[in-house]
Formats: sequence, structure tokens, C-alpha cells
Amino acid sequence: MTHHHHQHKPKRGLWTSRLGFIMASAGSAVGLGNIWKFPYITGMHGGGAFVLFFLFCIVSVGIPIMIAEMVIGRHTHKDPVGAFRRLKGGPWTLVGWMGVIAGFVILSYYCVVAGWAVDYLWLSLKGTFSFSGRYAKEVPLIFGNLLADDWAQVFWQAVFMGLTVWIVLGGVASGLERANKIMMPILFLILITLAVRGVASPGGAQALNFLFTPDWGKLDAPSMLEAMGHAFFSLSLGMGAILTYGSYADESVNIPAVAFTVSVMDTFVAMLSGLAMFPIVFTYGMEPAAGPGLVFKTLPIIFAQMPGGFVISILFFMLLVFAALTSAISLLEVVVAYYCDEKKWDRRKATLVMGFIIFLLGVPSALSNNMLKDYHIIGDRNFLDSIDLVATNYLLPLGGLLIALFTGWVMTPKLARAEVEKGNIRFRFYGAWHFLIRYVTPVLVALVFLNKVGLF
Ligand code: TRP
Repeated sequence: MTHHHHQHKPKRGLWTSRLGFIMASAGSAVGLGNIWKFPYITGMHGGGAFVLFFLFCIVSVGIPIMIAEMVIGRHTHKDPVGAFRRLKGGPWTLVGWMGVIAGFVILSYYCVVAGWAVDYLWLSLKGTFSFSGRYAKEVPLIFGNLLADDWAQVFWQAVFMGLTVWIVLGGVASGLERANKIMMPILFLILITLAVRGVASPGGAQALNFLFTPDWGKLDAPSMLEAMGHAFFSLSLGMGAILTYGSYADESVNIPAVAFTVSVMDTFVAMLSGLAMFPIVFTYGMEPAAGPGLVFKTLPIIFAQMPGGFVISILFFMLLVFAALTSAISLLEVVVAYYCDEKKWDRRKATLVMGFIIFLLGVPSALSNNMLKDYHIIGDRNFLDSIDLVATNYLLPLGGLLIALFTGWVMTPKLARAEVEKGNIRFRFYGAWHFLIRYVTPVLVALVFLNKVGLF
């Protein structure tokens, strides 16, 4: 409907509607970060204070940067490298490059964790979690069995990467957009059901208390960096994924409205996941700091205890896989957009070749729980957890810091404003946003970094 704006570059896709852009961006944001990662890192960092600082970062750092990425993407209609090159070039092009590299790194282990979810979908199809009173103690052990099986993990990782490549091959509108539109609403429904059930259960009050009553003493420098890094990870920011999606948007899109909607949805899903899982943790006397297996150890207990658990377990893991897919395609899309726009590869070649390379890069992560479990890279973290830490806590916030500085100080305010307000949109909080992106956001990110290296 709006292709006439871009007749000079017929090869690039465009979202077919405004809703398509919102759904795709929300699909990118909502993923394993919300359902797998948020609850487990919240458990490891002590709850309340961590959650509140995370929410603070979403508002003061996340939303302003999401607007900035969309502005840069839509203004240039380019991949991240091409976008920075066109707007300024020189060393700024490196910001785009960092994004493409982060895409490789993050997607490599993302597919491994998503592979666990595919395995759990398979298990639920086999009836593993269907109603049966004896499961409360046994269910969590299933996760250990999976981690002990290197080749099962590589197999499911490959299955998931295959699915991701298949969707990205379909192109922007038909592949990404259609997929997102169908699954997001179902995901919301099932999570709301699980969360309501959790809060109403015996462990509900303790879970609410754990999640929202801050004990500020627990918020040390590493926790702050983890919360801020996770705000980037969860909103898909700091590496040009949202920038790339913005590059497929046309002038009719209200950027601030989309950024706000997507951020609210994303945060909502994270909170729902916490509310679904922590009541189970407390009811069954489990350890909140159980680590990366939390979602796989908690929810299946409930599935096994509830009538209809067979169907619900299938639905839940199907949606988890789907949420992961809509995020993974945005990670792969950054890499593919770079090879298509800058290297003039065709989409098919870029997707197949890069998908395969990223799969290979992910194999050490798949082996990191058993064969390679003694290779600790950072502290006592295995390979997967280590590259997750480096990418999330350092690459993304650094990328975000540079994007904020670029938008606030290199792009002229006139250009930025013209872009946000294109298509007769009036951005009432333009002044506030520009102030945030210029001063507040970069200073906050820098402070959290400096705090981590022990400057205060
Ligand atoms: N936001 C997704 C999640 O929460 C993961 C993701 C997709 C991502 N694209 C990204 C993270 C780009 C960082 C950057 O699961």
C-alpha cells in the first residue's frame, strides 16, 4: 500500500501495515529473554530491588533508545552498517559493525536455549508432563537429563535454527509478519492464565513479595549491570535489530507510539513470567536462584498437577518456541540485511550461509553443559553463560550508549525531529525524549559501567 514511497529501491521489503510493524517489533522483543531469562536472573539477583531497577532502566534507557533505533532505521532504510555509514561514516560505522557481530554471537547461543524449549515441546507432546500426581519431585530432574545429553542439545539447536532460517527465507512481509501476527495474542492469553493461577496459589503472596518488595542491599554493582544489560536484551536493543526493523517501516508509522507499546508489552510479559514461576518455586520449596533451568523445572510441575496439563504443556512450549522464533528471526535479520544491503548477496544465499555459520558458532554453547562443562570462561560460568554475559552486559549497553550519543549529539535535532514527526505525527514528548537521549541515557549507562569497575 505504501510501496510508491520507495520505488527507487524496489528490492527492500516493507511491512504491509502499521500493525505488522508493531507485531514484528514486539515479536522481536518478547522471547526467551522474558520467559527464560528474566525470571532466572531475578531469582539469582535477589528479587525486588533487581526488578525495580530493571523497570527503571526500561523507562530511562530502553524506551529512549528504542525510539532512536527506529529513527535511524527508518531515516536511512538501511542495515545498521549502511545506516551509520550514510548518516556520518568514519568510526561511527563501527557501531553498525558491532551490531552485526552481536547478532552472530547472541543468535548462536539463543538457538541452544530455544532448542531446550523445542525438546520440551517434544516431551510434552509425548505426554511427559500430563496429569500425574507423582511428578513434583521428578519433573525438575528431566532438565538435568537434557543438559547431560550433548547431542540431543545440538540436534534441537539445529532444528530451531532450521526453523529460523526457513522463516527468514520467506522475506519481510510474508514470513516475519504473518508468523508474528498469529502467535503473539495466544502467548499473552496462556501467560495470563498461568500468572493468575500462580498468584492465587499458596505460594502467591510470597512470590509477589519476592518480586516487588525491594531489599536495596541486594542491588550490588554486578546486579545493576545485569539489570541494565537485560533491559537491552529484552527490548532487543543496542545492536541494530530494532534499527533494521525500523528500516522496513514507512512514513505512516508513529515511532514513539510503537516504541512505547512494544516496551509495555515486553515488560508485561516478563512480569507475567515471574508471576507464573515464583509461586511454584515457593510452594515446592525450590531455590529461587536455581539458574538457567528455572522455567524448565518449575512450570512442568504445575502442568503435571493440573487436569488438562497435557494440552496446556503442549500449548505453553509451543508458544515459548514461537516467542523464541520471532526473536531469533530478528537477530538473523540483522546479519542478513547487512549481507544483502552492503554485500549485495541475495536474500536466500545470505540466510542459508549465515544461518549455517551461526549454527556452528553455537555448537560450543550446546556442549557447554556436559562435554565442555569444565571450561569456565568468566568466573564459574560455562561457555554459554559466559558469552551471554559478555554480549548482554557489555556489547549491548556499549552499542546502546553509542547509539544514544549518536542520536543526541551527531544527528542534528532538526533531522531527528523531522524523522520522528514524519507523516503528520506530532510527538508531544519530543523535548523530553531528546533530553533523555542526549544526557540522561548515556550518563546512566556510563554510570552503571563505572560502578561495575569499582569507581564508586
Ligand atoms: N529480545 C529478545 C528476547 O528477549 C532477544 C533478542 C532478539 C535480542 N533480538 C535481539 C536481544 C537483539 C538483543 C538484541 O528474547
